[in-house]
Amino acid sequence: MSVDTAPTDTASAGTAPVLEATDLSAGYRRVPCVRNVSLDVRPGEIVVILGPNGAGKTTTLLTLSGALPSLGGEIRWRGEPTDRALHHRVRDGLGVVPEERSVISQLSVRDNLRIGPGPVERALELFPELRPLLRRRAGLLSGGEQQMLSTARALAAEPAVLLADELSLGLAPKIVTRLMDALRAAADRGAGVLLVEQHARQALGVADRAYILRRGSVVWAGTAAEARRDLRQIEGAYFGQDTGA
Ligand SMILES: Nc1ncnc2c1ncn2[C@@H]1O[C@H](COP(=O)(O)OP(=O)(O)OP(=O)(O)O)[C@@H](O)[C@H]1O
Ligand SMILES: [Mg+2]
Repeated sequence: MSVDTAPTDTASAGTAPVLEATDLSAGYRRVPCVRNVSLDVRPGEIVVILGPNGAGKTTTLLTLSGALPSLGGEIRWRGEPTDRALHHRVRDGLGVVPEERSVISQLSVRDNLRIGPGPVERALELFPELRPLLRRRAGLLSGGEQQMLSTARALAAEPAVLLADELSLGLAPKIVTRLMDALRAAADRGAGVLLVEQHARQALGVADRAYILRRGSVVWAGTAAEARRDLRQIEGAYFGQDTGA
């Protein structure tokens, strides 16, 4: 397949990666479940990591964000090797939308935005849907509204890189489209977006490049256009029975 295919058809081809992993190993209690993963994200592109349950997608993302220690290999941030913890990386321009929705249920929508890394007004410009909900407790929002809140909060800081894990999990197609469009717009403003998804088709619709992870290793890499074209074949080869795509 096309592990060596360069992303020549993306707008960001030729720019230096803002986030890069080389031979990354990662896991829990010093036992790796992700091995020798190499990937990169460039300014202006959406890169999606696909793969079945348990493939190591979340583990990879948590390690890139600094929430889990790396067990081998190298992570480079804006060209420099880094092992800084998550909160430093947020100050340096890293945005994260974690797998578990990260809103604080007891706080209002406005207070959730206030404690975020960027201006409240910017979050509301990006997601005007949140404006009428500002006084509502975040715990009373629908799943889609909560995910818009998490995403608005992360994007309001105009991060250089956004890491998002299963943004679309359990949400209606209309909301998923809304969220994907917001990520596309952020990438078009210059952010690098690394998105983990199980639902391949919609993510590939907005992505520039894709990596497929299986049992902790990259088994396929290429452009999103190639992945869309060969999706049936790719799913048959790498996803087993449990794909929701
Ligand atoms: N906190 C943990 N402690 C120990 N092992 C874990 C922990 N979290 C995940 N694992 C294991 O690590 C492996 C990779 O899991 P990971 O959550 O990264 O997969 P994933 O691709 O994100 O899966 P999913 O699609 O279900 O979210 C799995 O075998 C999983 O059981
Ligand atoms: Mg996961």
